[in-house]
Amino acid sequence: RGPFPGIIDIYGVGGGLLEYRASLLAGHGFAVMAVAYYDFEDLPKVPNTLEMEYFEEAVCYLLQHPQVKGPDIGLLGLSLGADICLSMASFLKNISATVSINGSAFCANRPIHYKQTTIPALGYDLRRTKTTFSGILDILDVRNDIVGGCENPSMIPIEKAKGPLLFIVGQDDHNWRSDLYAQVASERLQTHGKEKPQIISYPGTGHYIEPPYFPVCLASLHTLVNKAVIWGGEVRAHSKAQIDAWKQILSFFGKHLGDTQNPRL
Ligand SMILES: *[C@@H]1O[C@H](CO)[C@@H](O)[C@H](O)[C@H]1NC(C)=O
Ligand SMILES: *[C@@H]1O[C@H](CO)[C@@H](O)[C@H](O)[C@H]1NC(C)=O
Repeated sequence: RGPFPGIIDIYGVGGGLLEYRASLLAGHGFAVMAVAYYDFEDLPKVPNTLEMEYFEEAVCYLLQHPQVKGPDIGLLGLSLGADICLSMASFLKNISATVSINGSAFCANRPIHYKQTTIPALGYDLRRTKTTFSGILDILDVRNDIVGGCENPSMIPIEKAKGPLLFIVGQDDHNWRSDLYAQVASERLQTHGKEKPQIISYPGTGHYIEPPYFPVCLASLHTLVNKAVIWGGEVRAHSKAQIDAWKQILSFFGKHLGDTQNPRL
């Protein structure tokens, strides 16, 4: 019986609606909504711009649900989904805990809009793409450098977030430099008088951190280049990271979204 603490779950490039992680979290006493934002039903085929108003509607919808315990909810995102979650936490109200799995805290490839505010994209240059021995692409270096460090204009204003942020990082991330970005995010928070965020960093772990016991996805199609790219990570280390990261996520939400009923951590 509810009401339960609410969580919104957002995946990255690939589009569509992925609900398995939301379902797994719901088994731990949370009311979880997986949110699609492109390539699903009447949504745009490609995410050309990201409008925070769309995600704000999702927050309002969830908070008005009779089975959801307010006044705040949590956010969980992977990759581009993590950057969307960090933007939501920065711009929207009623969010009190945010988990970024291999997010960058930058507006990377496309601008993010909310009302009168636009965060410009950091940009990239595909000429920096490398090809691995197997013919699969490595896009680790395509992103433009962070000029100006944590005050770069493409950085998401994470110091505005009300609740704590948890950064989960794969040290062998080949999608982007999660490790570096989490450090820059931490610097930005501290420069603005906020506390250091919790950063959990896993060796031998790639970009695509999934729930425990999911097969490790070492490479797959990336819509940026429309070809297979490597995500990084070694199978054993990455699998162990997936088990630990899940425990950390559950305990973070359990702590910051209030007690859940029948927690099975
Ligand atoms: C959002 O948070 C405010 C301040 O805590 C609270 O008064 C309001 O009821 C919350 N909104 C919802 C829909 O729960
Ligand atoms: C972060 O990215 C790395 C490198 O691609 C990946 O191995 C790892 O699984 C990712 N971590 C998560 C939590 O997705």
